Amino acid sequence: MAAAVVLVTGGTGLLGKAIQYIIETEPVGSKYGKLPNETWIFASSSEGDLRDPEQTNKLYEKYKPTHVIHLAALVGGLFRNMKYKLTFLRDNILINDNVLHASYTHKTTKLISCLSTCVYPDKAEYPLDENKIHGGPPHESNFGYSHAKRLVDVQNHAYREEFGCNFTSAIPPSIFGPHDNYVLEDAHVIPALVHRCYLAKKNGTSFIVGGTGKPLRQFIFSRDLAKLFIWMLREYDDVEPIILSVGEEEEVSIKEIADAIVKAVGFEGHYSFDTNKADGQFRKPASNKKLLDHIGSFQFTPFEQALDISVKWFIENYDTARTGNKKA
Ligand SMILES: NC(=O)c1ccc[n+]([C@@H]2O[C@H](COP(=O)([O-])OP(=O)(O)OC[C@H]3O[C@@H](n4cnc5c(N)ncnc54)[C@H](OP(=O)(O)O)[C@@H]3O)[C@@H](O)[C@H]2O)c1
Repeated sequence: MAAAVVLVTGGTGLLGKAIQYIIETEPVGSKYGKLPNETWIFASSSEGDLRDPEQTNKLYEKYKPTHVIHLAALVGGLFRNMKYKLTFLRDNILINDNVLHASYTHKTTKLISCLSTCVYPDKAEYPLDENKIHGGPPHESNFGYSHAKRLVDVQNHAYREEFGCNFTSAIPPSIFGPHDNYVLEDAHVIPALVHRCYLAKKNGTSFIVGGTGKPLRQFIFSRDLAKLFIWMLREYDDVEPIILSVGEEEEVSIKEIADAIVKAVGFEGHYSFDTNKADGQFRKPASNKKLLDHIGSFQFTPFEQALDISVKWFIENYDTARTGNKKA
């Protein structure tokens, strides 16, 4: 097989770091390890701002990737998504358009882009599946991010039909793991609770979780998702997107998450739920049937074990983690 150069855009983020971890720790030549003829590049925004076509081209000229896993995106929690809708729409449209077009002009053999289950219609029949992405408007809180991401699927089909490009996309649910974004005002639920529980322990204060704790959510451990991306890179060549998720039966409640965090952090103080805070939708599960039909079977890391690894990483790396604190 000819030498391959795999470029991971957004290679310094939560998922990019997990792919790097798997590629560097699984045995060379194994199912998820680096192949002997492969070079992997994990690009950060400092190597090129992908909103800019010239910088994107330069990155492609420098590395000449044969394969691209496109993760770079403006990603944020609810608050930032609500406040900066145009920025989320525009930055992500620009990043995606530049990466897709550079992949076409540089004759990249294969491109996998990353969507998200949160770009689905607000009103959908559950479980979500791969056919329901464009079936109605997204939730108004994140319509900028959602429309930009949905457009990637449209572009993939157009590039394939007009130019025969091997472009496709993956749809993960919420991701968690080492190297997450722990900035309190902007983080997703797991890193936000981990950070708050850690501070409650450190400062001897209460650990209060917003809502009743009853809503159910699907989460995927970043290192499991990393393996699924590597599998996709090697085995999945259809333009249609594929949901990369744990099964519906693996949903966890916010209370189960908070309990596991309390245990992993070793927090022994006062812990309660603020039922005055809104719960949001009770559940919005996605089906991983298509994934299992294609991959056969996959061993997901048990939730508590994955959370424990993530919390330990956060505690050990608190000074350098993305917490929003000014570093010394
Ligand atoms: N986190 C989740 O729960 C979740 C769930 C579903 C789907 N996703 C999707 O998964 C992918 C990875 O998410 P993540 O959570 O790993 O994100 P993340 O931790 O926020 O990392 C984002 C990455 O994108 C890069 N980036 C941002 N703007 C860029 C720009 N203008 N030019 C070049 N690079 C840029 C960042 O580079 P620097 O750090 O160097 O600036 C970083 O490497 C995204 O496409 C996201 O939409 C995430």
